[in-house]
Order: sequence, then C-alpha cells, then structure tokens
Amino acid sequence: MSTATVSRALSRPERVTEATRERVSEAVRVTGYTLNQSARSLRLQSARTILVALPDIGNPFFSTILDAIEREAARRGYGVLVANRFARGDTDPLRDYFLSNRADGLLLLDGSIDRAQLEALTRAPTSLPLIVACEAIADAPFHTVRTDNAYAAEQATRHLLRLGHSRIGHIKGPAGNVLTAEREAGFLAALCSAGAEIRAEWVLHGGFSMDDGARAARTMLDLQERPTAIFATNDEAAIGFISEIARSGLICPRDMSVIGFDDLGIAEHFLPPLTTMRQPREALGRLAAEALIDLIEGAPGKRVPRQFVLSSQLIVRGSTAPPRPR
Ligand code: RIB
Repeated sequence: MSTATVSRALSRPERVTEATRERVSEAVRVTGYTLNQSARSLRLQSARTILVALPDIGNPFFSTILDAIEREAARRGYGVLVANRFARGDTDPLRDYFLSNRADGLLLLDGSIDRAQLEALTRAPTSLPLIVACEAIADAPFHTVRTDNAYAAEQATRHLLRLGHSRIGHIKGPAGNVLTAEREAGFLAALCSAGAEIRAEWVLHGGFSMDDGARAARTMLDLQERPTAIFATNDEAAIGFISEIARSGLICPRDMSVIGFDDLGIAEHFLPPLTTMRQPREALGRLAAEALIDLIEGAPGKRVPRQFVLSSQLIVRGSTAPPRPR
C-alpha cells in the first residue's frame, strides 16, 4: 500500500474503500502508530479541526447537536474543539484560533457575538470559514442553519387555542436573544389571527433555564387574573414553571396547560410528560458541520451564503388539555 493511500485513509477516511480502511486500521494496530497532529497541521497548514462555540454548555439542548456535529466531523476526518461563552464582546481570541492554525473553521451557536466583528473575520486576511447555527444573526450574510422559530412558536400557541384556551400567556427567553424575539413574535401572531386577548402582564420575563421558569411562575402567581395556558420559550423554562406552580397547589394541566419548545430528553419523562415543539437537533448539528466542512474545503458553489431553515414538530403529551370549566 502506498504512503499516499495510508495518509488518505487516516485523514479522509470517506475517500477510501471499506477494505482499505480496514487494512490501514489493522496496520495502525499492529505497529502502534499514532498521528503527530502538530507536525501534520504545520505541514498541511490545516488543523483538521473545527471550533464549536456555544452560549451555554449547561443547556442540555446542545448535547444532541454536539453529538451530531462530532459524528459528521469524524466522518469527514475532522476533530472538534468546544468553546463555551466564548469571547463575549471580543472576537480577538476567536481570530487567534485561526491565525495560529488550531482550527480551520467556526461553527457558531451563540447569536450574541457582534455581527460587524464577525463579518470582518470572514473577510481577508482572516477569511474565517463560518457557519452560524440555531441562534441566527439577523440579516447577516452568513451561512445559517436554524429552525423556523417564529412559525414553530405560532404552531405551539395555536395548539393551545385549538384546545379552547383564550387566556394564554408566554414565558419569554433571555433579553436581547434573537430567539426570544422570534418566539414572542410567533406567539403574538397566533393570538392576533385568532382575535384572542393579548395581556402585557401575561407575557412574563423569563430565560432559558429552569430557574427562569420558576421565577416567571412566581410573577404569574401574584396576578389577580391568571392565564389558563402558557407557551414557554423552551422546555427548561416550562419545567421550572410547572414545578413552581405545583408548590402553590396548581396542577398542570388541570389548572394550567403548559407547552415547551425543544423536546429535550427529559420532556417525555417529566410528570406530566411535556407537550412541546421538537427541534430537529440531530439534523441541525449534522447539516451545520457538513456545511462548515464544505466551506473549509472550498467545495464549488458553497461560498455564497446559504440559509437552511428546518421545521419543528408539535409533540402532544400530557401537559396540555382543554381549560377547566369556570
Ligand atoms: O440556542 C439556545 C437554545 O436553547 C434554543 O433553541 C432554546 O430553545 C434553548 O433551549
């Protein structure tokens, strides 16, 4: 077997046959060969690594996405570096990653990074290959992979309307986050088109954590007149909300229906099992990694910014039901 074939089997396994891959794996096992990644990066001017920047590694939403990114990257012969809450307000550390040849491209899941600074990084001399995923950056000329959040939020709210609710509230996401605005817009659009009441006091400040959901519940419990159903910006907020109202004796869905967003693993196992909008997390991660590696490898026709918008799916479980007769 030639050196070139061995090298290809190790660096671009998808480009050789299954039989060659097996012969090379066997040779690696017998000889105890290990790759000197630093030497290889220097020679190829390529790290064969992508950097994934997350807004919050503690949010279980990202685990399936990361898993899919890692699988797709490995299939294409790339490793993955993970950065959490990276470079908030400062993109210099990001740029250094690429200029020092530690990563070949950036998969950004954090929409809070400054758009103008990012745009500068994608131009020469840095020419950073960049894919923005999940938290899109509004009107920016980047390749983007995301779900249609406003439409999915509208579908979630319509589910509550179909059950017969007319007093519907919303737990918002974190202030300033693009998803907060998109999901609130979908919620309001559904209420408007149904001619349902919109009450400012039923639109509760929240966030993406269970604590945020619990805080929103305490605000809601203080209201004189309460909604009969809630669309929560995500599953964690929904779960925090349901647990907190239970402490005051309110049972979901008997006293209040709650729908979440994401379909985390816990949604199905929570009591009551959570009705939610499922985001296609595996597809989001796989497509984002695929698009980034295409960009890094300069695949023809892949330079023009592409927008992938995936659909969410309504998953009806036990946390939503018709309102209790008054
Ligand atoms: O990007 C943040 C993600 O985490 C969102 O999709 C939201 O649903 C939250 O759970």
